[in-house]
Amino acid sequence: MNIVTQPSVMPAANDACWCGSGRKYKRCHKALEGRVQQGVVSPRRSVPSNIARPPYADSGEVTRWNESAIKSPEIIERMRHAGAIAAEVLRLAGQAVKPGVTTDEIDALVHELCIARNAYPSPLNYMGYPKSVCSSVNEVICHGIPDSRKLEDGDIVNLDVTCFIGGVHGDTNATFAVGAIDDESRALIRATEECTWRGIEAVKSGRPLSDIGRAIEDHAKIHKLGVVRAFVGHGIGEQFHSDIQVLHYFDSRNSVVMRPGMTFTIEPMITLGTWQHKMWDDDWTAVTADGKRTAQFEHTVLVTETGVEVLTGGTGAVSGFSPFSK
Ligand code: MF3
Ligand code: CO
Ligand code: CO
Repeated sequence: MNIVTQPSVMPAANDACWCGSGRKYKRCHKALEGRVQQGVVSPRRSVPSNIARPPYADSGEVTRWNESAIKSPEIIERMRHAGAIAAEVLRLAGQAVKPGVTTDEIDALVHELCIARNAYPSPLNYMGYPKSVCSSVNEVICHGIPDSRKLEDGDIVNLDVTCFIGGVHGDTNATFAVGAIDDESRALIRATEECTWRGIEAVKSGRPLSDIGRAIEDHAKIHKLGVVRAFVGHGIGEQFHSDIQVLHYFDSRNSVVMRPGMTFTIEPMITLGTWQHKMWDDDWTAVTADGKRTAQFEHTVLVTETGVEVLTGGTGAVSGFSPFSK
């Protein structure tokens, strides 16, 4: 193998890249400057056999079955518990975010926090996903795989925690600042959390799911931010992802009517630029096509007779109540 090392003097933007790719420097290595670099992924962690595992835990294969969109009171009670555990694990994982910490170290922490609470970390081996949490830095939209990369002062990182306990999943995420971040990143995080709560506040029995996407998109537009379209909220319960799809932008075809007892996630991904994405060659990591930063917040919610209950918004949560009602 030929190893080409970086020269000390860089080519001009329109000259050939130093790496020998034949592409212009500005379209090749210059475009990678400031982008998140892939690190080394550590070996798979194991979960003690006394902890109940979801059906995919050993094979990595996800087979779907019919599950009622409307949950029984007994399932709902179990989902409250799973949601509260996920919220607590997310909050504790967020406290570990600081410059110099690797995302792999955060994965190890999330893994241990789940096990200590008798929960299985739902991402582990879900469709072969190799880790117990998703960690998405800067331009990574979602599904970033924890690795040896150290968090840097000024980064933003989303941690997406899902816990399986009592036969059901609770799914929640939040975006955290690493050290001191710039004003634009801070505003992005704030607007994204607001978008999530605008979506939650649009949950109402008798109304179509498209109300949620409309509320989110309207708020993003006010801030001139992009709404990612390729990843959507989902039904959740005994399965991590079930039939219901919750779009984060307005589409009248998202016409399923909300009913009491329905449980799903709301998890908008909001960008400083384009809504379009690209995939890394690991087939998991989704990044913004323009390399600009993106943030996300997620809650698991229950439609009630009178409104909404945020199952991952308990006292232990990062932000247990809407910034609009503060
Ligand atoms: N928690 C993510 C969601 O919000 C899904 C992660 S899938 C995994 O839907 F395989 F990457 F874990
Ligand atoms: Co989700
Ligand atoms: Co999630």
